[in-house]
Parts: sequence; C-alpha cells; structure tokens
Amino acid sequence: MTPTLYRAAFMHTPSSPFTDADALHIQQDGGLLVNGGVIVDTGDFASMKTAHPEAQVSDLKGGVLLPGFIDTHVHYPQVRMIGGLGRPLLEWLEHVTLPEEARLQDHTYARAVAKDFLHGLRCNGTTTALVFGSHFKEAVDIFFEEAAGTGLRTVAGQVVSDRMLRPELHTTPELAYSEGKALIEKWNGKGRARYAVTPRFSLSASEGILDACAALMNEYPDLHFTSHINENVREVQTVRELFPGSLDYLDTYDRAGLLGRRSVLAHSVHTSGRELGQMAAHSCTAAHCPCSNSALGSGLFPLKKHLNAGVHVALGTDVGGGTGFSMLKEGLQAYFMQQLLGDDGVSLTPAHLLYLSTRAGAEALDMHDHIGDFSVGKAFDAVWLNPPEGSTLQAILGHAESPSETLAALYANGTQADVAQVWVGGDEVYARAEGASSSQL
Ligand code: GUN
Ligand code: ZN
Repeated sequence: MTPTLYRAAFMHTPSSPFTDADALHIQQDGGLLVNGGVIVDTGDFASMKTAHPEAQVSDLKGGVLLPGFIDTHVHYPQVRMIGGLGRPLLEWLEHVTLPEEARLQDHTYARAVAKDFLHGLRCNGTTTALVFGSHFKEAVDIFFEEAAGTGLRTVAGQVVSDRMLRPELHTTPELAYSEGKALIEKWNGKGRARYAVTPRFSLSASEGILDACAALMNEYPDLHFTSHINENVREVQTVRELFPGSLDYLDTYDRAGLLGRRSVLAHSVHTSGRELGQMAAHSCTAAHCPCSNSALGSGLFPLKKHLNAGVHVALGTDVGGGTGFSMLKEGLQAYFMQQLLGDDGVSLTPAHLLYLSTRAGAEALDMHDHIGDFSVGKAFDAVWLNPPEGSTLQAILGHAESPSETLAALYANGTQADVAQVWVGGDEVYARAEGASSSQL
C-alpha cells in the first residue's frame, strides 16, 4: 500500500498540560506519514518528503490539523431537542427529554435520529464518542448498525432505569441483564464499536438494577461504565433520600462495584471531597459538560478540586442538555466558566482546551495507546479545521502571531462551518462540500 504524507500545520498534546509545561507539540509546516490508517512517521514536511519519496502527498493547505475530537458524554436520543432551554435538570427531563426518548420505541424514528446524531458528531470533527444510548434495546441495535456505517468510533450502551421516569422507559433487573448481554455479544469489540454499561442515574435506578449492571461488568471485564453524578442539587438530595444506606451519590455506584479505570461519570458539579478521593482511587473520569451545566443552570464545575484530588477530567457536549456537538464550543465554555470562578478556577490555556477535547478523552476511554494525539503508532484520527474563504476566522488566523494564538482563535471562533475534513483510522468520514455558500454549510 502506498503511504500518504499529509502536509499540514498540525498541533497535538501527547501529554497533559496540567502536568507538563511542554505538552503542546506544534509543526507549522508538518508531515504526517500514514500507512494502513496508522501514523508511521512525523516531522517537518521537508525532511519527511526526503525520507519518504514514495509517499503520496496530500496537501492540507490553510487552517490547522488537530487530532479528532473525543466527546466523553453525549446522548443519541436527544439530538432533536437540542435547545430546550429554561428548565433545571429534573423538570427538563420530565417535560422535554423523556417524552422525546420515548419516541425511539418506533424503529423508523430511532434510525432517523441515529443518522442525525452521527452526522452531528462527524461534521463537527468528533471521531470518538462515549454515547448514552436509548432505553430500548432495538434502538441501541439500530444505533450500532448506523455507527458502523459511518466509520466513527463509538462506545455506547442501552440506558437502563426502573423507577421515577415514565413507565415505557422502565425495565427490570432481569431484562436489563439479558438485553444488555445480547447487545454486548453482538457489538462489543465489533469493528470500532465498544459497549458501555449505562444506568441512567441513581435517581432512576434501584439497587437491583445496579446489581444487574455489575453482573454484566463482571462477566465482560473489558466493558466501559458510564452514568451521571452530582449534576443538580435537587437530584443529589433525592438520591440521598433514595439510598439511605449509602454514604453519598458516588457510593451508590461504588457499593454495586461499578467503578474502575473505564468508568466515566458525567457532570460531577456538586461532588464532595470524600467522593473525589474515591473517584481518584478508582481511576474514574469526570466528564465535564460546561454548555449543559450552563444551559440547565447546574453550576460551575470545580475543576481545581478534581485536579487537586487526582481525578481525571475530560470534556463532553451532553447533547441535548448541551447546546450542540462542537467540542470547540465546549472548550471555550469550559474556559469561560473557570474564569468566572476567579481564584477557585483554573486558568485554562489553548493547550489545555486542546488536551481536554482530544487526548484527555482518549485517556478516559482507556484508548490513549491508540488514539488522542499524533504520535507514531497512533491511528490517524484527525480533523482539518480550515475556515471558509472570507470568514472572520480566516482573517483572524491570518494575523495570529503564534501557534497558541491560532489555537485560541480556533476555540473562540471555530464552528461546524470550519470543519473541512475528518478521518478515522485513515478513512475519510466527512468532507465539507466545497463551493457551498455559507448558508448551506
Ligand atoms: N441525568 C439523568 N438523565 C440525564 C440526561 O439525559 N441529561 C443530563 N444532563 N442529566 C441527566
Ligand atoms: Zn447527560
């Protein structure tokens, strides 16, 4: 196979800027040699061209090439209700979200929603996502089928609950186990799909259903686990009342044996010191969803407390509590919210935003040996951000005086319209229709 030499200005964070001052790696005129979907050599373009004269050059002129974005918390059934503003979590679930999720009982509807959802991911440059599935087994099956057709990497699972939602969204521990097992057997490890055991949140989960989740995790040790935690003060209070024998919210999952290296807990806004210590001890990740936390008024994420406790943090869009699929917007909102926290906040640099939206997600999913940056040996999962001719972002990038300014401009101004091309494992999964007017983008 003839290797491809991608010529581009590229940036990536092979390590964490929270612990390594030199984490941001930059090539202004770089070369990435890709063979069989894997990066086999990198460097400046001129020396790469000399070293690999046989390679076919693909010239990504303009803009910047970044590792594909990794969204660690996003709901497939919620794509069509993005923008349901004005309610706090529990009212929003009851009046906006759950009625829409119930519609996925209809297979035709579920397939159309899955297509909309997956398109939303890839046209925003997201190449890997940890996806909250549907309560309906068939709708999860449909999701995996559609995801396989796109080439995206997805970690997803059936959402299970047995109380306090709507009757049609409830299951039983026995069914949760048997349907989960069937989906795992069919999809976990098939192509780019992985399975995540997904109780919706402790508020809608009995101890019995959490035990059924644990039974699946014990039977299949490579599974992922995801749920919500400490998002909203009323939710936290209700969980406390529902689990009088548990120390706190985290303990409801911990007692069931659900926490480990591949556990991702979304939101974690009102998490106590004890919980943070336990999250770190279990090597869990907190998926920070700043747009959602703002839209639902959930609160300001205590990033500093998480970092000080040694809890790993990555970013999620939380569509449709969040306001869209753009990980650029999510990074910017994370920056804003830390600024608002003043001395209690963490001053995030552009390198932090890049790390949080790429490599940190790969670490959360235990996939960092394979994806998340452009090191040799990694899969070529990439997003080429190249603003359209005449756009404001193009004008800003033309005047940026350093790569860090360029990166800051991308996070501050970049949108879906700037995503020119996206690859997963060397396969193109999205290409912007060139020549389209901005109204078509
Ligand atoms: N907690 C339980 N379900 C949900 C959901 O769908 N979205 C958010 N943001 N929080 C939740
Ligand atoms: Zn969520």
